[in-house]
Amino acid sequence: MAELVFPKGFLWGSATSAHQVEGNNIHSDWWAWEQAGRVKDPSGAACDQYRRYAEDFELAVGLGHTIHRFSVEWARIEPVEGRWDEAAVAHYVDVVRALRQRNLEPVVTLHHFTNPQWFLAKGGWVNPEAPDQFARYVQLVVAALKGQVRYWVTINEPMVYVRMHYVQGLGPPGAKNFHDAMRVAHNLIQAHGAAYQIIHQARGSDQSRPQVSLAHHVPAFRPCRPWWPMDRWATNTTDQLLNRAFLDAVTDGRCQVPTMGTWTFPDCKSSLDYFGLNFYSRQFIRWTPRGELWPAVSCDLAHHQPREVTERTSLGWDVSPEAFRDTLVWLRRFGLPILVTENGTYMTEDSRRWSFIHRHLQALYDAIEAGANVLGYCYWSLLDNFEWAEGFGPRFGIIEVDYRTQQRRVRDSGWRYAQVCKTNRLTLDNTP
Ligand code: FCB
Repeated sequence: MAELVFPKGFLWGSATSAHQVEGNNIHSDWWAWEQAGRVKDPSGAACDQYRRYAEDFELAVGLGHTIHRFSVEWARIEPVEGRWDEAAVAHYVDVVRALRQRNLEPVVTLHHFTNPQWFLAKGGWVNPEAPDQFARYVQLVVAALKGQVRYWVTINEPMVYVRMHYVQGLGPPGAKNFHDAMRVAHNLIQAHGAAYQIIHQARGSDQSRPQVSLAHHVPAFRPCRPWWPMDRWATNTTDQLLNRAFLDAVTDGRCQVPTMGTWTFPDCKSSLDYFGLNFYSRQFIRWTPRGELWPAVSCDLAHHQPREVTERTSLGWDVSPEAFRDTLVWLRRFGLPILVTENGTYMTEDSRRWSFIHRHLQALYDAIEAGANVLGYCYWSLLDNFEWAEGFGPRFGIIEVDYRTQQRRVRDSGWRYAQVCKTNRLTLDNTP
């Protein structure tokens, strides 16, 4: 039987984020947003993982996982400005211990879309003090976890955060203001730089060098009508704004921001130790006179899918393992090891989920063959969970959650993925 063998020591696992799985994250801005009726379903008890983490890690180990990405919740650690909740800090120390005891390599995310309510009330990420406010929280978390954690993610998908919360208005504060959005991006770059320095400075001489990155969402932007110069221009400008600017800032210490000119961040130069990649799909761009990212670029990002899109997820997202491979190969230019911090899908039929995973793992293998230095792969997600504005409808988990009883059931795709994790091999006819 033909099979693909992955590099020795390759890390296999999955990812989650605090607000999406923990439940009752009552001091966060997302919680307030949900209580105000701004989403389909409130997150409520979610997967109750704040209490059930050990049980869930046990399941992950049983599935052969060796890495697990999760996030620490700022709103729990600092529910009131300047008041630190020691019990919450101790909780995350326990979470890391629970992972280590099971030989699951922890990947700790410090910010995954949610903030404390007090932070938003003071202006949120638009406030010039935001990077310092975030840095104080990071300082505390790092002091508690240093030496126990090798892989850190400072900020999850900063430009998705910017777009979703300040352009589309789909999360708190529900803004639709390009200039504010750019101030947020600016402050998130600074916040990343500050967190990078804090994590490295906290290292004691006895510890191995921590590895710090972002989880950067890199959609493969493509023109809707490649023969139309305005679509090509809009695609290139969107790519610069949403994909490349943040990366340039945290690698070169400067970036070009459409309509804003050059931004410089001397403290952020070389502040990625590895590349954390979140990859889901291609996104097709069509120029319109006054589109979503106006005034930077008049483009329409909203689910335009030309004929070349032959397959979609149950959320309507394009499926393109080729674009995943190409993106991984493109990332070689950064000269950094790559960790796939998210890749996954919601398909109503589980066999289609496995088919998605299978083909993306083949693409991953092809990218490695083509010279991409990939350390590991975290499937999004270990469990079905709260999918932001979409509520509990979309189910990304390799483990199904019955939200009424909190029972977990490993899906067939989870068992098949487990075969890969346990053997470090992908069998080519292991398709549904
Ligand atoms: C990513 C987010 C994650 C989850 C997946 C489906 O963009 O980081 O929280 O919502 O999409």
